[in-house]
Amino acid sequence: MDGRDLVRLIKVVGSVGTAQGLRTVRAALRRRRADAEGLPPRGAERARVPGPVQDVQPGPGGGVIRFSRSELSICVTVHGAVFWGWDGAAPEPSYALAGRCPEPDPRAVLEPDKDGGWRVVAERVTVVISRHGAVEVQTPGGVTLRRDLPPRWWEPVAGGPARWMQRSEVAADARFFGLGGRASGPRLRDGTYRLWNTDPGRAFGPGVDPLYITMPVQLVVADAATHLVFHDSAWDGTVTLREGEEGAGSGHDRAGTSELRMDGGPLRCWVVVGTPARVLLVWASLTGAAALPPAWALGHHHARWGFGSEQEVRRIVSGYLERDLPLDAVHLDIDHYDEHQVFTVDHERFPKLPQLAEDLRRDGIRLVSIVDPAVGAAPGNAVYDSGVAEDAFVRDASGRLVRGVAWTGESVYPDFTHARVRDWWGGHYEERLAQGFSGFWHDMNEPTAFAAFGESTLPRSARHSLEGRGGDHREAHNVYGLCMARAAYEGVRQLLPEERPFVFSRSGWAGMQRYGGTWSGDVATGWPGLRASLSLVMGLGLCGVPYSGPDVGGFDGSPSPELFLRWFQLAAYLPLFRTHASLPAGRREPWEFGPVVLEHARVALLERRRLLPYLVTLAHLARRTGAPYVRPTWWSAPEDRALRDCEDAFLLGDCLLVAPVLDPGADRRAVQLPRGRWYDTATERAYEGPGRVLLDAPLSRIPVLARAGAVLPVRGDDGGLELEVWAPAPGRTGGGLVVPDAGDGWDEPEIERYVTRRRGRQVVVERELDDAVTASPYPVRVRGLGERRSQT
Ligand code: NOJ
Repeated sequence: MDGRDLVRLIKVVGSVGTAQGLRTVRAALRRRRADAEGLPPRGAERARVPGPVQDVQPGPGGGVIRFSRSELSICVTVHGAVFWGWDGAAPEPSYALAGRCPEPDPRAVLEPDKDGGWRVVAERVTVVISRHGAVEVQTPGGVTLRRDLPPRWWEPVAGGPARWMQRSEVAADARFFGLGGRASGPRLRDGTYRLWNTDPGRAFGPGVDPLYITMPVQLVVADAATHLVFHDSAWDGTVTLREGEEGAGSGHDRAGTSELRMDGGPLRCWVVVGTPARVLLVWASLTGAAALPPAWALGHHHARWGFGSEQEVRRIVSGYLERDLPLDAVHLDIDHYDEHQVFTVDHERFPKLPQLAEDLRRDGIRLVSIVDPAVGAAPGNAVYDSGVAEDAFVRDASGRLVRGVAWTGESVYPDFTHARVRDWWGGHYEERLAQGFSGFWHDMNEPTAFAAFGESTLPRSARHSLEGRGGDHREAHNVYGLCMARAAYEGVRQLLPEERPFVFSRSGWAGMQRYGGTWSGDVATGWPGLRASLSLVMGLGLCGVPYSGPDVGGFDGSPSPELFLRWFQLAAYLPLFRTHASLPAGRREPWEFGPVVLEHARVALLERRRLLPYLVTLAHLARRTGAPYVRPTWWSAPEDRALRDCEDAFLLGDCLLVAPVLDPGADRRAVQLPRGRWYDTATERAYEGPGRVLLDAPLSRIPVLARAGAVLPVRGDDGGLELEVWAPAPGRTGGGLVVPDAGDGWDEPEIERYVTRRRGRQVVVERELDDAVTASPYPVRVRGLGERRSQT
């Protein structure tokens, strides 16, 4: 126990002073003992590097290169992704990949290179392997995007997993993004980022790292090209990033560096090169299409820890209805459980939950249930008893159930890395569906096990199935939430085959988008928390997880009316738009902040509802193309360095640029525009990018700009679909996509493509079919013809 642990322990016991406080002390001691017994010290280690090249064996898409102390398999796949694995590591098994590994590209060939090295030449990428095992990824034109120096392993002499380190260099102008959900981004500054999913145990701001979702996925954006790199190992590790420096034409650039150190797991890596859109497309084809949310999940959600009773839920809902404020879902937190036990209901405070759900549903409002993985370890608790009968819970090396402390007190944890356990758990959602719930909010699945000191999770020595391969928590920890999401998604799909499951999960890993989305977790109330909210959504989108959003207003404390409103206005343009707060926090209902905030919040809610068809289209596009709804402004112009450094605005799909207000007291803000004409949607004034403009941002709204030529599907006053068309600049054309979605179910609607051009003072909009163009079947509203122009 170090000094920090001691302080934490004194605080826990002092502040709680309850049975739960003492339990967390016992749990921490137990955890430490378990690891001391179950994970002997590593002892002496032997360092190893690959050594010089010996021989090669060409194979499909590349081949195997043998070095004196390791071998490297390398393969370029049909869609241009590069895989390489050291020491015989293959792409599978992998928790990130979706289904079968893609086919090798038969045209990619392994050939000798200078100085005794080798190279694989493919259509979109060239990979050069030096005679000592450095791996360089180049554009087809020969520009180096990344150079991975020969790796280094440290193997315990007594046997066991090897630690390894991989140092890489990238262009001096490169910027780093990704690594999962990071509060300090979206651009990842110099520093060390840990890869270990962590409940910070308190409301967090930009300085707190790591958080609930970490991923060894980096998106590196440079003038020459964008590339994504994924080291497919779920073990604990760190990434140390250092941006490069350009020598201002002196020829003395300093490369950017990224150093990955992992405690174990295979050293294998995927690299995808191209434009951001292409990189995310290939990433989605590797790790799986994002689950499509039902349309209601793209509306407005209201949550709180501590509604406490059915009456209170009805009171909040009436508050929305009486004020004509759109509301699509209400979330019930752990306080609706019986003594915090998952898959139960407190019948005293929620005596008629199915009736409540039915009544809400009549008003178009769905109920969403929190689901925690911890199961109270008490015989007589039905979930516990059935889990014991099913042998569902994590055990230690000597076969004893591993206990942790959760809201339920002493608890046990399902081993979601076992298919049989996932089936068993998935079946429990039947009870939730019978209570009337339509969606599921997975919490505490890092997993969190409260401890007075040390890490608040399961012991590293705890055993897991890992799909029958067997292993311990060091390998299973980071995929625990992902596997829990899979259990729910597959279970609900079976129980309700005609509907789209709606699952979002606090923790997860690469590939989690297959089963749903996520949210910020306990983001701190305050302006820095507001900024962190946007960082998380953007960073996760660039790692392939397109659906997320923050706790509007922050999780703890009481936001000022201004902060609440600015948060609300931002979140109205994020995929998950949900107000939520903790038990002791202040209110989050829009009417609790006075009449001015209420009126402006109403505008944001109505705009959200109007944009629903656009958001639904973006959800389909995310699923089919991997492009997140929320994109950095450099998405289509990564070579624009000013955009690369812009962290306070984002593109919502192709059509809109949203510039939230992230600072107190602001009534104007600067916005960095990408190339082309942009209209301020409030004033219809036109601005020409690239460049920086100063826009009004009164309390009533945040600046939102529309791209000239954009065609957006929106909801008309009669509830039907309408096209909002922003006039193309003279001499230019424009267009947009519409996915007419039924709102739920599995029909695959055709993507409709619209084109727009100017004819004199008129704007013409037509639908493009395979071999013809037709008039738009929807009413069209043209905007931006006023021609008030401002030069940037
Ligand atoms: C932690 C979650 O992050 C938060 O959203 C939730 O309200 C509490 N757990 C209580 O369930």
